[in-house]
Amino acid sequence: SKEKIALFTIFGGTGDLAKRKLYPSLYRLYKKGFLAEKFAVIGTARREWTDEYYRDIVMDSINGLAESYEHAAEFASHFYYQSHNVTDIEHYSTLKKLTETLDEKYQLEGNRLFYLAMSPNFFGIISQNLKDGLLLTDSGFNRLIIEKPFGHNYSSALELNEQIRASFAEDQIYRIDHYLGKEMVQNISAVRFANNMFESMWNNRYIDNIQITLSESLGVEERGGYYDTSGALRDMLQNHILQMVSLLAMEPPTRLHDKEIRAEKIKALQAVRLFKPEDVPHYLVRGQYGRSTVNGEHFEGYREELNVAPDSQTETFVAGKIMIDNFRWSGVPFYFRTGKRLAEKGTQIDIEFKNVPLNLFNDNSDEPLPPNVLTIYIQPTEGFSLELNTKKVGLGLETETLKLEQKHSAETTANSPEAYEKLILDCLNGDSTNFTHWDEVASSWKFVDIIRQAWDNETIDFPNYPSGSMGPIESDLLLTKDGFQWHWCPTKE
Ligand code: BG6
Repeated sequence: SKEKIALFTIFGGTGDLAKRKLYPSLYRLYKKGFLAEKFAVIGTARREWTDEYYRDIVMDSINGLAESYEHAAEFASHFYYQSHNVTDIEHYSTLKKLTETLDEKYQLEGNRLFYLAMSPNFFGIISQNLKDGLLLTDSGFNRLIIEKPFGHNYSSALELNEQIRASFAEDQIYRIDHYLGKEMVQNISAVRFANNMFESMWNNRYIDNIQITLSESLGVEERGGYYDTSGALRDMLQNHILQMVSLLAMEPPTRLHDKEIRAEKIKALQAVRLFKPEDVPHYLVRGQYGRSTVNGEHFEGYREELNVAPDSQTETFVAGKIMIDNFRWSGVPFYFRTGKRLAEKGTQIDIEFKNVPLNLFNDNSDEPLPPNVLTIYIQPTEGFSLELNTKKVGLGLETETLKLEQKHSAETTANSPEAYEKLILDCLNGDSTNFTHWDEVASSWKFVDIIRQAWDNETIDFPNYPSGSMGPIESDLLLTKDGFQWHWCPTKE
């Protein structure tokens, strides 16, 4: 049977993430039979809620997904609420009692999954109290899922990791990076390792450059308080972008299993060149959106957003060039850009192949042929395209670029599993492939810290890009000075 057996304890059970992502994902797993009779959920938070009230909230959060009211109610009956102060060890004995009761009632075999969907400030104390409060079982599994951010630099991440490691072993810790749960991010390995025509060319002899764009059209919305202390560098580069880089750059693993894949990702991240502080301006560009009017709609600048300092130096855009110093990638730039309030929401990877040695076509032009480009569309559209040069129909030998495109239908995309659904299932299976290992986190922070420090030493004239653009002009210059261009230009489409 595919049924998974576990008790979930969700810290931050009244929070936004729980309602928006976790309960709907658990329900999807329930609908598909991965969760059936033998599961229970304890939601904890400071507020005083009754089980009934909590179940109503859970039912609300799956509204629209539910097969029927009865099915939703049946699902919600597995949910229990416990008001809880995470710093008070006394409270853990109440939690322990409830845990044991539910363990017996639902025959959960001592399998425990603790989900920390709350401020990272409490990750250390919760892990310690789970251990000291004897909530860890020795009859089933103990697994800890933690949300980002994992520290705000290398040393805070290290400290946090040591606190957690005092209670949980590395292989019990599941650090979420929701990008790793995305269908098309998981597809990177399939494109590479299931197609000899790509894998045999996947190196510096045939690839000219790789471009990763994570563009968001929204601003910071209600998250100004968090974002103003984070910025795009910590919010997106340290985790999502470097994770994608590691999947694109890693050596083929011997098997597609978590240990083997993680080992290769770690090696790739460790080969990322660490900049000298004085080199940072050559490799990185930062930006902050200013107010503007796009198609008649007015947008505030970042500094006018709620809970953002009026003279904030926080970047809402970052572009850069990552170099990987190993045999496979030496000399190949991995460009990336990400930002808020850009022209369009979209994440894609463009892989530009090297040109043929000589252009035999188009006699009258000195122009090189356009490069072959493989594009992986991650979201909102999912799919691939491949650009090839072909002969134009006619008497001459003129060429034109043909785009072979396969985009998943809206229906397929709508039915593809949610990132959180996949990740929770992976965790239930004890499969940590799509979670970040501590060594990956450590390498990523070391890379990011140098940039952060260089930036903190210099104030910059913000804002420097209008809402609805693709970031500051320096982002384009970053590529043109190397003889390249951003392949994707939503502002020109
Ligand atoms: C989160 C960031 O990790 O990823 C957000 O904190 C960002 O600022 C989000 O908006 C983007 O995720 P997605 O899945 O919408 O691309």
